[in-house]
Amino acid sequence: MSAGSSNSSLKTLLRLIGSLRPYPLQTLLALATFALAGVIVVVLGQGVRRLLDVGLHGTLASLNMATLALILLVFVYGLTGLARAYLSGFITERITADLREQLMTNLLAHGLGFFEEQGSGLLWSRVMSDVGMIASMLAALVSAARSVVILLGGTWAMWATSASLTLAVLGLAVVMVGSVLWMSRSIRGLSDQLQDLLSRSNTFALETLDGIGVVKAFGQEQNSARRFTALAEGVFKKADRRNFAHGVTVGVSIWMIFGSAVLLAWIAGREMILGQLSGGRASAFLFYAVVVAMSGAALSDLWAQLQKGVGSAQRLYALIDQTPAIRSPSRPRRLSSPDRGEVRYDGVTFHYPMRPDIAALDNFSWTFSPGATTAIVGPSGAGKSTLLQLLLRLYDPTAGSILVDGIDLKSLDLDQLRSRISLVPQDPTLFDATLRENIRFGRADASDREVIAAAEAANVLPFVETLPQGLSTAVGPRGTQLSGGQRQRIAIARAILRDPRILLLDEATNALDAGSEALIQESLSAFSPGRTTLVIAHKLATVRSAHSIIVLDRGRLVSQGTHAELLAEEGLYAKFAALQLH
Ligand SMILES: Nc1ncnc2c1ncn2[C@@H]1O[C@H](COP(=O)(O)OP(=O)(O)OP(=O)(O)O)[C@@H](O)[C@H]1O
Ligand SMILES: [Mg+2]
Repeated sequence: MSAGSSNSSLKTLLRLIGSLRPYPLQTLLALATFALAGVIVVVLGQGVRRLLDVGLHGTLASLNMATLALILLVFVYGLTGLARAYLSGFITERITADLREQLMTNLLAHGLGFFEEQGSGLLWSRVMSDVGMIASMLAALVSAARSVVILLGGTWAMWATSASLTLAVLGLAVVMVGSVLWMSRSIRGLSDQLQDLLSRSNTFALETLDGIGVVKAFGQEQNSARRFTALAEGVFKKADRRNFAHGVTVGVSIWMIFGSAVLLAWIAGREMILGQLSGGRASAFLFYAVVVAMSGAALSDLWAQLQKGVGSAQRLYALIDQTPAIRSPSRPRRLSSPDRGEVRYDGVTFHYPMRPDIAALDNFSWTFSPGATTAIVGPSGAGKSTLLQLLLRLYDPTAGSILVDGIDLKSLDLDQLRSRISLVPQDPTLFDATLRENIRFGRADASDREVIAAAEAANVLPFVETLPQGLSTAVGPRGTQLSGGQRQRIAIARAILRDPRILLLDEATNALDAGSEALIQESLSAFSPGRTTLVIAHKLATVRSAHSIIVLDRGRLVSQGTHAELLAEEGLYAKFAALQLH
């Protein structure tokens, strides 16, 4: 490990410990109980010595006194044990909960590009396994603090009880610790590989179960099961090797521990025969030796835990410290109220972060007049959805700028900008909640009456009335218990409820039958006057009713005009219209 990185490891560790600052009471209490435990261990050994020496040579009354004192000490020691167990749990859970909360808050602030770069689906499970690693490191660290105190106190008391025996113990300890460290290194290598294989097989299982519909539709159950079996067997083989290595360590440790115990007993017996050691002192020594050995064993794993935990903490802090690339400026300009809803694209070129070579939009300029409805048409992949995402500032343009009411999006307050816009996305996302909650998603303060009005406008009520629980019906994870067209109508109701100045419809009615589409078109035309509406559509009826039409192809604006003008051009639009008119 280089000086630089161990320096930053130390910084990370200190930062982690520093996050205990809001909980001074619990931290101080934990430290106090550790110190107390150390003191009690030393005294307890002396109690054992007195008990035996008095028992061998003293009176019954003094034996009772010594026993009573011992019982009292044991009681207090138990209390420190209770406090330690609780407080170390508290510290671990508190810090990891804080980390989780901080991470989620921070992740939510990022633009979409960030998630694409991070691989969004697996980001959270990666983060959670790091948090788990930190939790076990913290637990190890807290009990290590106690172990160190007991180790020091116990060794000192051992030394005071018998210097020669202590030297023998220390010599044996060096040999044991050395060999255990040596053996555990090979185990650690195997454990890391095991973790890696395990997370790969978990990812595969998650993905497969998540896409179970597709797996079945393509008849891939057996294939997927086979692939999973191969992965799981890989995990087992690695675990098996690790377990054998672990077994060897356990065996060798037992030989060494019992061998040492026999050796110590011989030395102690010899000193007792020579009259250099009393029975009480010998027992006290044994007591200290056991306690010290246990603390030493507890510490043996600390280094490995620390390395892993600090690595995880470094990764998480890197995520937490990353400021979102898309954020409100420090002194945002505000839209005048009421806002007009004029949208201007000025030479906008955009490359998706993960596709830097291809321009999804290429020098696109256009002004969407306030209050008017503009249809956007073009072949698949032309950049239509991209156009809407940029207006919401889910990404920033690579070049050029987008202005709302003459103000660059980058100078506006993000929340204010988005509060003026409603999007009905091409593939609406519902959450695992009731219909009512899903409609209210974009405006939590909406009254029940407003929700019902929005539901009515989006033609949601006819199918809701057939459900026994009405708007209180749960829709299942990602809305899977609804049909595509029903999801779409909920998404439209959600958009309407926000009462936006700018309305973005991305093929908002493509999953609907002609009847409900006509109904919704009617409500949308009643809803859109006074709102700048950008509507992406493939259906001629929707397109024709717009005030103006723009045609996009491969990220470029290729024509614009009214339906009649564009037909006369005999270009892309005319072909598109011809296909729709049969
Ligand atoms: N997240 C993304 N990362 C990388 N490239 C993307 C991403 N989203 C879209 N693209 C690419 O950008 C281009 C424009 O995509 P866009 O979704 O804007 O097309 P569209 O006109 O809405 O098409 P459709 O009619 O099929 O919805 C496409 O070539 C697409 O492959
Ligand atoms: Mg699209």
